[in-house]
Amino acid sequence: MISSKYISLLHENQTPFYFYNMELLQTTLAAVKHAADSRNYVIHYAVKANANERILKTIASYGFGADCVSGNEVKAALSAGFSPRDIVFAGVGKSDQEIDYALRKNIFCFHCESVQELEVINRIAGIQGKRALVALRINPDVSANTHAHITTGTRGNKFGLSPTELDQALGLIPSLNNLRLIGFHFHIGSQITNMEVFEQLAHRINELQAQFFANIPMPYLNVGGGLGVNYTNPEEQPIPNFEEYFSTFHSNLKLPMGQRVHFELGRSVVAQCGCLVTKVLYVKGDELKKFVVVDAGMNDLIRPALYNAVHKIVNISSHSTPEYYDVVGPICETTDCFAHDIQLPETVRGDLLTILSAGAYGEVMSSRYNLREKPLAVYSTSIKEVYNKVGLT
Ligand code: LLP
Repeated sequence: MISSKYISLLHENQTPFYFYNMELLQTTLAAVKHAADSRNYVIHYAVKANANERILKTIASYGFGADCVSGNEVKAALSAGFSPRDIVFAGVGKSDQEIDYALRKNIFCFHCESVQELEVINRIAGIQGKRALVALRINPDVSANTHAHITTGTRGNKFGLSPTELDQALGLIPSLNNLRLIGFHFHIGSQITNMEVFEQLAHRINELQAQFFANIPMPYLNVGGGLGVNYTNPEEQPIPNFEEYFSTFHSNLKLPMGQRVHFELGRSVVAQCGCLVTKVLYVKGDELKKFVVVDAGMNDLIRPALYNAVHKIVNISSHSTPEYYDVVGPICETTDCFAHDIQLPETVRGDLLTILSAGAYGEVMSSRYNLREKPLAVYSTSIKEVYNKVGLT
């Protein structure tokens, strides 16, 4: 756990800010790489989870590919050092300009989500005199059993091609001379911690391969991302169980000869290395309810307001007797609340709180709502090194 002495050394108390433990990020990256390499799996980091430049550069330096959902994400990935040959471009609404840009940059592959999109990519590739590689995103109708807002793979979600659309797409592709179909793509949702869900996905993929691709085996299969992290007790599991995750696919997927499995992991790579550090402005309330008002708001970290997401909060300045509090921000919205009725040591104005597991979908989803400044980011290259400096072991 980081101490307030350490935090103030890092940033002289200009709160709120995202704090990234780069050592934990590197250990996590080494763990994913080891687990994936040993099965010949390819990882594309989902840039949407955290597009902070230093984080991207660190991830790129491990040789991962990138999964992008906008032209600007492709741009950020390229400038962070990801090779264009390892960039995939997904998303239900790619604009003509974004497709044109990605094609000019010679990215590896487009994940297509509609018949019309195939026609647009074919047209733009023709203008550029290129043949674009495409994979079809299939809606497998598998429920992720996660928060409804982050479920993507069931009928009724906007994502992917239904079986009827898949038939249409496969009928059309032979006439689209500037495209080459290399495989298919799935993504059923995020923050999935039950491996049975991935098992079901693997079985559904086997069925679909047998039904649609038995005579035309494809070299590329992308099963998306979605591996969840431990938000309630991050200290217990700072690194997700990548071995268990990959081995679920390994033991359940039936692959045709020569097909390689690709993944798009976001949250599991970056969630635990980041926390949001905020200062207590006021403590208010009465015998019924006490509020800790902090200087971070839902504009800095929107997950609790948007998905009722739980993030563990630690008061790093106080060790007094615990009391019950709501931890709320300064924004003029009732949902600007990081936690209801949680126990914290008796908290006073000026205390520093850390909101843990905020490395994924935190900084990147921050906004300037209420015209607040965007949160800053602070990094440690080695926790031990800084601990030594402040006399901690
Ligand atoms: N691939 C595709 C096509 C996706 O849509 C996503 C996430 C990923 C990969 C990465 O999934 P991950 O490994 O991070 O679960 N803002 C929400 C999460 C939205 C996820 C959107 N798609 C949150 O804060 O929980």
